[in-house]
Amino acid sequence: MVCFTTENSNKNGKKYLVTCALPYANGPLHLGHIRSTYLPADIYARYLRLAGNDVVFVCATDEHGTPIVAASEKAGKTPQAFVDYYHERDKAEFSQLGFSFDIFYRTSSPENKELTQHFFTRLSENGHIYEREVSQAYCEKDKRFLPDRFVIGTCPHCGSEGQYSDYCDNCGKALTAGEILKPKCLHCGTTPTTRITKHYFFRLSSFSDSLRDYLKGNRELQAPVVNYVLDWIGKGLNDWDITRDLDWGVPVPGEHGMVFYVWFDAPIGYMSSTVKLLGSREKFAERWRDSKVVHFIGKDIIYHHFLFWPAMIAGTKEFKLPEAIPVRGYLNLQGRKFSKSKNWFVSLEDYLKAFPPDYLRYYVTSITPHNVEDADFYWKDFSDKVNNELVASIGNFVHRTLTLIKRNADSRIPTIDTSQLDDADKSVLARITTAKTRTAELLEKYEVKSGLEEIVALSGELNRYLSSREPWKDTDAGRVARTLYISTRGITALGVLLYPYLPFTSEKLFDMLHIDAKKLRWNDADRELLKQGTVLGEFAPLFVKVDETQIAAQEEKLGKV
Ligand code: MSP
Ligand code: ZN
Repeated sequence: MVCFTTENSNKNGKKYLVTCALPYANGPLHLGHIRSTYLPADIYARYLRLAGNDVVFVCATDEHGTPIVAASEKAGKTPQAFVDYYHERDKAEFSQLGFSFDIFYRTSSPENKELTQHFFTRLSENGHIYEREVSQAYCEKDKRFLPDRFVIGTCPHCGSEGQYSDYCDNCGKALTAGEILKPKCLHCGTTPTTRITKHYFFRLSSFSDSLRDYLKGNRELQAPVVNYVLDWIGKGLNDWDITRDLDWGVPVPGEHGMVFYVWFDAPIGYMSSTVKLLGSREKFAERWRDSKVVHFIGKDIIYHHFLFWPAMIAGTKEFKLPEAIPVRGYLNLQGRKFSKSKNWFVSLEDYLKAFPPDYLRYYVTSITPHNVEDADFYWKDFSDKVNNELVASIGNFVHRTLTLIKRNADSRIPTIDTSQLDDADKSVLARITTAKTRTAELLEKYEVKSGLEEIVALSGELNRYLSSREPWKDTDAGRVARTLYISTRGITALGVLLYPYLPFTSEKLFDMLHIDAKKLRWNDADRELLKQGTVLGEFAPLFVKVDETQIAAQEEKLGKV
């Protein structure tokens, strides 16, 4: 099994700590999640390991917050039982897509509770926390406070009914407490009263200067994102209410019925999951200090990762700030936003029932440049890309070469006289080395799409080389041997370079060739991996075409409720 593997991480290499945004444990994963966050992160982490680095790749489910409590009540389950289900489900689906996390943990863990409380204590000691009274909606019937999602009502901006008190799903506006019209308790429908309660606030405003320095001084952060965030800082940052009157969450030390706001403990989940993986807070702290820390996220959570999180870290005076936060845009589905209620939705489960994981990895990478622009998933585009690029170029080159070796060379990797190699042969070998170097440079810069294009271009050249040499009708036996040999170098190069992108395919290929994929390194891409004279075993096509009827069936399902 290729996933959840740390196999080829090199403990003596350069240290990295790579994370992806923690998915909320309150609904099924869909293709959008994959696009901005998990797939680019996995490709990056797999590449780093293959290139000989020491990588820790961390993810977890984000299990607190009012949306989760509200959803669990609706489902008639306890919050714990509710998140347990999605934790296991997300873990299984991520694994089926080949995501190679070293740990997939959860924010309701004891490690996260402990570290979150530690953050709070440190931030308090350092003078970054204060108490303030706020007025909060309260349900006299249920005898409880109604934070965020627990109040529904009419949006004051667009008049849409049944909206949550913190956000209107119809017009997309964020609402502040008390703004919603005709407020009702989500649970029992009673009109809430208002009560005064004490909350803790984090002095975000006092971090404006240090955040500016961080943003301007870090060349790995994307310029458009940095400018956007600097603009927010320029408009003045508000202090941040970090507690809620709720039972589900990380308890605030010394308080009763009060927990931290979900966005306070969620990013700490990156750290606490690493604590769990490495076995102690000390080992984690050392690892964080010595690593290049990279957080992959989608564009909707820029505010939390470029402001809240760095300010929280800086405020502890204990940990360094992350080196990189690659941000990518949203994925829409055939021109519209993903919506579970309107069934304009493709869950990972639906996808995985119909097609192999690598097809999704391929297509989604091909529409995901390293920027914050949105893109669309079109089923037709998916099948075109798979059929015209994966099958017709990469799959075809590999299969053609292996078939020719079987028919024309008695299934043996030809033995050649290297002094006889001509310019075309040499230029293919040189092209492989260039592809290896360029793809590595691109991947180091999070340019996963451009990296893939480099490999596809190599495959195109290999096909052109093979076609132009016409070994099937060449009467010069020495040249036929050289053509087929050079082509095998192309096959193994593709296998290595594609490994971060298409791990299942790459493993299948190396299995067929009886090469132990676990021992491979990025630098093996331009080496002779199939020794001359080796006898080929059985082989099968790497891919099968996506059929039009399969695509029609998927399109047919959209929007039917
Ligand atoms: N729980 C928070 C993240 C906490 S990180 C400390 C969260 N969860 S999420 O489940 O809503 O989203 C998980 C990731 O998927 C985020 O990076 C988010 O930006 C991304 N996406 C969610 N929907 C998406 C699309 N439709 N398109 C692209 N990315 C999407 O946010
Ligand atoms: Zn509205």
